[in-house]
Amino acid sequence: MKIQLYSDLHLEAHPAFAPQAAPDADLLVLAGDIGSYQAGSALAHDPDFGLRRFSPRHGWPTPVVFVPGNHEYDALDFDDAHARLRETCERLGLVWLERAVWHPQVPDAQGRPLRFIGTTLWTDFDALIDPRAPLTAQLQARDKAFRAANFYLRKTDTTRNGAPFLAEAVREQALRCQAWLRAALDAPFEGSTVVVTHFAPSLRSADPRYGMVPGTAGFCNALDDLLPQADVWLHGHLHAPSDYRHAGCRVVANPLGYARKNEQGAFAACATLEI
Ligand SMILES: [Fe+2]
Ligand SMILES: [Fe+2]
Repeated sequence: MKIQLYSDLHLEAHPAFAPQAAPDADLLVLAGDIGSYQAGSALAHDPDFGLRRFSPRHGWPTPVVFVPGNHEYDALDFDDAHARLRETCERLGLVWLERAVWHPQVPDAQGRPLRFIGTTLWTDFDALIDPRAPLTAQLQARDKAFRAANFYLRKTDTTRNGAPFLAEAVREQALRCQAWLRAALDAPFEGSTVVVTHFAPSLRSADPRYGMVPGTAGFCNALDDLLPQADVWLHGHLHAPSDYRHAGCRVVANPLGYARKNEQGAFAACATLEI
């Protein structure tokens, strides 16, 4: 199977973005931050969340898998946005892959069955914690990561149960996603496994522009122990591309990123990766 991967298109900033289906692709994976929908954004009144251009029911030539990113929830109630995104995917014929497993009809390159395991994943903010450090030092490191993240999270205006959706609530959601993901990976399966998340599984995906700072734990998890259970792991969120192998797993990110920040140079519009 040949997979085309897009993430972080941020259509609210680039509403004229015209996707091109790769001629050899069997599948398109959308790994989150496709758009943001707050008042004033170009997509604020789009009932389809900008996703109609990827709809197999409206001309996209391959199946499409969608994992929501954090920005899909900007300025919205988390649970309301979640339900509307899911309904939109169903209406447009996209495969909704938030805490879900999908079995495509096309097998892998060896003819073996494939499974796609997807979740936004979020982050537990613990990626930079040294597990051998005293507990107080560990909690201090988490608190630093929380404070770095909250600077940005406050601006997104996402709410959940009437309260701002800040780092502590993000961590709760991340732990739910992690527990689900571990159980999904542990389910017996004879074939190849592709994991799709929005947030990164490993610090190896960290954006080299920023280095290892407390904010990095808001982008990457340190779930390297899970990599051996996947053949390919696709993610987004970092506006820096990745393509590396670790513990038998190939990890790939192909974000578009923001034009105004000069992040789009490495974006591969028509590339595919084979599994
Ligand atoms: Fe993004
Ligand atoms: Fe993101």
